[in-house]
Amino acid sequence: MLYLYMKNGILTAATYVQKGGVGKTTTAAHVAVAAAQNHDLNTLLIDLAGTQNDLATHFGISIDEESIDAPISAVFGDQWELIRNGIDNVVERMTFDTGEGPVLIPADPGLGAADNNLANVPREERYDRLADFIAEDLAATYDFVLVDLPGKEDNIAISGLYAVEDVIAPLRPGAFERNQLENLEADLQEIRDAYPVDPRLAMVLPTMIDRRTTQSSEFVADIREAYPDIAGLQVVSTQNIGDYQEAGSTLFAVDDDELYSTGQEALDAYSTATDQLLQTLRQ
Ligand SMILES: Nc1ncnc2c1ncn2[C@@H]1O[C@H](COP(=O)(O)OP(=O)(O)OP(=O)(O)O)[C@@H](O)[C@H]1O
Ligand SMILES: [Mg+2]
Repeated sequence: MLYLYMKNGILTAATYVQKGGVGKTTTAAHVAVAAAQNHDLNTLLIDLAGTQNDLATHFGISIDEESIDAPISAVFGDQWELIRNGIDNVVERMTFDTGEGPVLIPADPGLGAADNNLANVPREERYDRLADFIAEDLAATYDFVLVDLPGKEDNIAISGLYAVEDVIAPLRPGAFERNQLENLEADLQEIRDAYPVDPRLAMVLPTMIDRRTTQSSEFVADIREAYPDIAGLQVVSTQNIGDYQEAGSTLFAVDDDELYSTGQEALDAYSTATDQLLQTLRQ
């Protein structure tokens, strides 16, 4: 019943690739803002990608242990039912306003221990906890939940893939780029074989593309050929992304005339990619 409601009533996805520095967090932030601003979706970002709190930083939110009232790691703990039933508005107390539309549940220092503790939970219920949280505590409030996952195969990442199923995989050109598509497929297949989880690719997004290099153009062409239906428009490489990230915002918060042409192009690509992604998720 809850599961059906969740599938019908809420859109969910995760940024996930077993590779660092490909644009997972940047993509999560920009897609979430585009969904909130351009599609009027009540959007929630959840940062499960380690404890360094990159999404909070991206939105200029400073997090210390004291500012976290109810940590996301608690959802994975054995005491969660008690906590949830004992604290009023527990979800509200977990969330922070990004100032750009979406709200954020930041990472917290307990995620590492939560990952370890999950290993002691019986396998048949090990991966249910985030899925239950989304269905029971988020589905009534939010239209779209986007999770930034760790770039590895730990219990938190598997829980995330179990809960949302649809994967956005950003990939950037670089050394071994020709193997990246094969690795992406192989990693997902390995997960399907090893866990009761069935991740689906909803979008493969070429990021940090420099159109002046043949390496970049070939990379984009390879992705389009391999994934004609779910390849996202290329996000070009632009200084603006890192600069505004450091200043605490996405490109969506910047006046158009302040962006470089590459910044404007990246912004448009994220808007178009989000239109396309939401179409896929609604199917
Ligand atoms: N389109 C872009 N142009 C230029 N720089 C970019 C672009 N997208 C992301 N970056 C930069 O690349 C770096 C890596 O991006 P990001 O943090 O989103 O990747 P990630 O996959 O989440 O990394 P990690 O595996 O460390 O979590 C960041 O410094 C970010 O500012
Ligand atoms: Mg990241």
